[in-house]
Amino acid sequence: MSRVAVFGAGGFIGTATTVALREAGHEVVACRALRLRVDAATLERPTWAPARDQIARLAGELDDVEVVVNAAGIATAGAARTPMLVGGNAAWPRLLADACARAGVPRLVHVSTAAVQGRAHVLDESLRYAPLTPYARSKTLGEQLLRDAAARGRVAVTLYRPPSVHGSGRRMTAAFAAFCRRYPLVTCGDGDQPVPVALIGNVGAVIAAILTAEHAPFVVAHPYEGHTVRSLYETFAPGRRLHTTPPALVRGLLDATAPTGQWLAPLGALCRRADLLLLGQAQRPGWLRHRDFELPLGRPAWHELAAATRHAELPLSSHVP
Ligand SMILES: NC(=O)c1ccc[n+]([C@@H]2O[C@H](COP(=O)([O-])OP(=O)(O)OC[C@H]3O[C@@H](n4cnc5c(N)ncnc54)[C@H](OP(=O)(O)O)[C@@H]3O)[C@@H](O)[C@H]2O)c1
Repeated sequence: MSRVAVFGAGGFIGTATTVALREAGHEVVACRALRLRVDAATLERPTWAPARDQIARLAGELDDVEVVVNAAGIATAGAARTPMLVGGNAAWPRLLADACARAGVPRLVHVSTAAVQGRAHVLDESLRYAPLTPYARSKTLGEQLLRDAAARGRVAVTLYRPPSVHGSGRRMTAAFAAFCRRYPLVTCGDGDQPVPVALIGNVGAVIAAILTAEHAPFVVAHPYEGHTVRSLYETFAPGRRLHTTPPALVRGLLDATAPTGQWLAPLGALCRRADLLLLGQAQRPGWLRHRDFELPLGRPAWHELAAATRHAELPLSSHVP
């Protein structure tokens, strides 16, 4: 059992993390993240470092803490590149890592996102980045700043990359379910291409598994949950027809819109969602698979979630990291 400080403990992923860690016997201390505003150009300078007084104050909150989990950040896929976005997703985790080093906390687990690899043909646990949106770029910058902090050797950092996370009562899940019911369902080919999605209960379980391991690698990807585009649509909209479109046409359109999506955040987020649901994205088996980790929730939990959202009437949203 460890004493674990969870930042962002009241958020979507933070709540699931807290539940899973308590179930695993850890003592959880809920902590609130500082709200930082920093522009990206400042953060990208090699000389940038968090303010010493902020490091010291934050370190003071980490007395007797053995592990820190950072589930705090801005989870808005369509967010514009503002100092708030960059501060929350890049400067904040780096400040936290420096505070861990100062307080003698040996481990930090940071919730990043699969979106840092953008349209990569296959997701993996490498440091190959291809962020498509300002949101993904801010998360990438956060990973890079944490890599620099980890290189100093005073805190072992693990970056955990979940894909879009679904859960009951989550606006993004209700919006996806509403989309499946209202609009023609289109994909490429037969729809049997894998699609990376996660259930919130599994996300909490993965974070608990990372903590349980004595050593975890620098990057841990969320394991593939077994969905194809077809199975995801069939889960949320059983019986609806799937229309197919040629992959070459889709790739051409996505290639043409990608440069605009880099700065027009809502378009970038929309293209990423279209990309996933049309072309899908495969995933290389990662560290958890090699450790024979099994996700606690499978297809029945997906069906329960879909059933719970079936009667929800919510507007479509771009809140899909
Ligand atoms: N939801 C997904 O599908 C998904 C997928 C992949 C990755 N992620 C990543 O997971 C993390 C948590 O996402 P979530 O869905 O749990 O989001 P959430 O429900 O909005 O919770 C995020 C938490 O972050 C803290 N926070 C809010 N504004 C902040 C700011 N400006 N700077 C720093 N912290 C701030 C808040 O906690 P406190 O008030 O306690 O500080 C908030 O409860 C994010 O970094 C996101 O990028 C999410």
